[in-house]
Amino acid sequence: MTDGLLLVHAFPMDASMWEEQVRAIADRVPCVAVDLPGFGGSDPAGEVMTMAVAAERCTDELDRAGMNRAVVCGLSMGGYVTLELWRRHRDRILGLVLANTRAEPDAEEGRKRRREVADLVLAEGPAAILDSMRALVSLDAATETWERVADIVMRQPAEAVAAASRGMAERPDSRPDLPGIDVPTLVITSSGDRLIAQDTSAPMAEAIPEAELAVIEGAGHLSNMEQPEEFTRLLEIHLERCGLLPAVG
Ligand code: MLT
Repeated sequence: MTDGLLLVHAFPMDASMWEEQVRAIADRVPCVAVDLPGFGGSDPAGEVMTMAVAAERCTDELDRAGMNRAVVCGLSMGGYVTLELWRRHRDRILGLVLANTRAEPDAEEGRKRRREVADLVLAEGPAAILDSMRALVSLDAATETWERVADIVMRQPAEAVAAASRGMAERPDSRPDLPGIDVPTLVITSSGDRLIAQDTSAPMAEAIPEAELAVIEGAGHLSNMEQPEEFTRLLEIHLERCGLLPAVG
């Protein structure tokens, strides 16, 4: 068994959103980019993909890769799953990266909207929500970045998108867990995030003892795709902090 890096994708994306990070890191650190249930052609979870079901898929993938412990990097929905993984399997976690995500649950209005999104996608397919998904990137994002994001969104089965939307609606409040996180943690946010604003993510770094905060200037919600080099640089520094990469200098 080895230690490595686990990358957990956003909604409604799949593991391919981590292409640049995997390419940059996988030759030095064992790397698993998980497809959450139903995404990227993986086995679905049924009508509701709870964060618990998604977290168990992550440990299945760690087992399959022969990885005992991992630095877990989750972006947005991936962050919700990462916090669930912390609650369930903290013995397998060497460090955390919580990127463009938040600890609080949805308010009732948000839950209702997620169920409406699920119904809409089941009725009309992912194309029905594609316009609203433009907020996944910043207003200044390159056209090619948006096209790549749109291509990934359109590849996902309606059932998976609907199940994840319903599952996120049910996610618990992770704020009580933050003070107990005792592994090296990096919180990443970006100034152009139109879905989870900097002001929402940043307080996690204050609530987690010894967490560090990094702000990627100009990037949008999918900061790892919009500014892959900067995201990877931050990730590499954190992997050094967690002992998975040798310290430079
Ligand atoms: C995501 O990118 O995973 C979503 O924006 C998360 C959410 O809808 O809360």
